[in-house]
Amino acid sequence: MKTRLTELLGIKHPIVLSGMSWISVPKMVAAVSNAGGLGILATGPFDAEQTRKAIREIKSLTDKPFGTNATLLFPGAADNARVALEEKVPVINFSLGKGDWIVKAAHEYGGKVIATVVNHRHAKRAQDYGCDALLVTGHEAAAHGGDATTFCLIPTIASVVDIPIIAAGGIGDGRGLAAAIALGAEGAAMGTRLMTTQESPLHDNYKKLSIEKGTYDTVYSKRFDGLGCRVLDTKGARDAIRQGMNLKKMFEALPNSVDIANQLHLPYFKLFIGVMLSGWKNAIQLAYMANAFKSIRIATENGDVKNGVLPVGQVTGLINDNPTVKQVIERTVKEAEEIAGVLAQKANIATSAKPAAKKTAAKPRTAAKKPAARKTTAKPKEKK
Ligand SMILES: Cc1cc2nc3c(=O)[nH]c(=O)nc-3n(C[C@H](O)[C@H](O)[C@H](O)COP(=O)(O)O)c2cc1C
Repeated sequence: MKTRLTELLGIKHPIVLSGMSWISVPKMVAAVSNAGGLGILATGPFDAEQTRKAIREIKSLTDKPFGTNATLLFPGAADNARVALEEKVPVINFSLGKGDWIVKAAHEYGGKVIATVVNHRHAKRAQDYGCDALLVTGHEAAAHGGDATTFCLIPTIASVVDIPIIAAGGIGDGRGLAAAIALGAEGAAMGTRLMTTQESPLHDNYKKLSIEKGTYDTVYSKRFDGLGCRVLDTKGARDAIRQGMNLKKMFEALPNSVDIANQLHLPYFKLFIGVMLSGWKNAIQLAYMANAFKSIRIATENGDVKNGVLPVGQVTGLINDNPTVKQVIERTVKEAEEIAGVLAQKANIATSAKPAAKKTAAKPRTAAKKPAARKTTAKPKEKK
């Protein structure tokens, strides 16, 4: 399937593996890129040297384009992005921060940059400072989807930008991919779907849960990691959300942030002072993150279904099997192409069934084709 996204990135299929901490590891990234999509390495749990090692491992596993992400709010994320630039990674995906410096440096070696956004203001700004594409995440998504659902968010943003959009949130099969393209996207990113595949390092306990659970079995709250976050509805998730950042959780954050400092090879004292100097609001946010990091890690790595918490999207309700990455990608594209054929057929039937009188009353087709006309039709509403 060819779209503006496949042309831009030099990939076969318009399907992207989202950068998921502890899931989008080198083998997983390479499996997606080798199957014709774009794998994105999650660097959240890595320090700079681990990021470099992971990038080199991907390079040894595939000669196809791949990406790395940088969640700029996380400690050490900017350093990881700098390593990706030094390693001339073909695609860099950043979120939760301003990535103009990444765009400038990546373009110098011909790299492409994708900004993850959840609203039209950030989308427009990212386009203005030179991003090549956007990854737009709707409310259904695992982890940090926006306030609006994919169905409304994609056309809203497609109305104000010209660069290709990758739709994320709620896409698990060819119906989702076809719908994303119909809404104005040029491809789809999948997190939850690709997380339950044979190559995925997700613990079997959670693969099983993801298959068993339905569309209604996720919860969305700001009280898990301090940002709006969607996770699987389990006892661990409910406990974490009920407690929010109370005194007990604040004390728990201290050893958990030591773990983060160790993992990222940052001196704890430096991390602690940096966090305290960044203000109370940031300190609370980072305390939330420290606890969330631990809960997600013990879910994905240890399969702890009691204390672990796993980001999962509503699309888990459409997941019934544990196929290979290649099978997911190929059947998704095939199904989307079949749906496009069915839609074209339906449109033909509808057009040929129209009474002649009605046809003359319709607006000339050329007017509707103008991109400028499409842009002015939907004005995103400002939030009050
Ligand atoms: C286990 C897991 C971990 C994730 N970790 C991150 C992360 O570290 N950074 C990030 O930007 N998004 C993260 N996400 C969100 C995905 O990148 C993506 O936006 C989301 O999965 C797309 O929605 P979907 O799950 O409906 O396909 C994570 C998602 C999952 C399922």
